[in-house]
Amino acid sequence: MDRRGFLKAAAIGTIAGSVSATMASAERFFPTKVDMTLFDGINRAKDPLKKTPLEKSHAPAISAPSSVKAGEPFVVEVSVGENVHVMGPVHWIEYIELAIGNEPAGRIEFQPKGYLKPKASFTVVVPKEAAPTGKVTLVAFQRCNLHGLWESNLDISVS
Ligand SMILES: [Fe+2]
Repeated sequence: MDRRGFLKAAAIGTIAGSVSATMASAERFFPTKVDMTLFDGINRAKDPLKKTPLEKSHAPAISAPSSVKAGEPFVVEVSVGENVHVMGPVHWIEYIELAIGNEPAGRIEFQPKGYLKPKASFTVVVPKEAAPTGKVTLVAFQRCNLHGLWESNLDISVS
């Protein structure tokens, strides 16, 4: 083997070695097998009337009055999800977020200690100018450390 061939082989060997070392360390940090496609984008229940077990425990369940008055407070409750998600050091909900249409309204962060259930209550006031068509969409997000970002929404009327 000439000098150039030797250097090429040595470089390839070094790269292969560092890739396998990186993969081994990734296994150490993520000891639980996860479906990485859940981290490609935002997950939603495909058929809200026929949710899978994963969707039932991850799609945020939004509870709010179907009709509210502009300028008056009302409570929006968000639960993760219909079947309340587990909270522990290996598998937990990192946060719950609420948006009014495209406007972020607030976010609750959770620690993976298991003290809190993944539920949040938001006291919301929608000004008249935020609902020119007489409707707003409540959008809830949650992020699970093993199952990615999930979104649900609920339209309510505003008079
Ligand atoms: Fe999860």
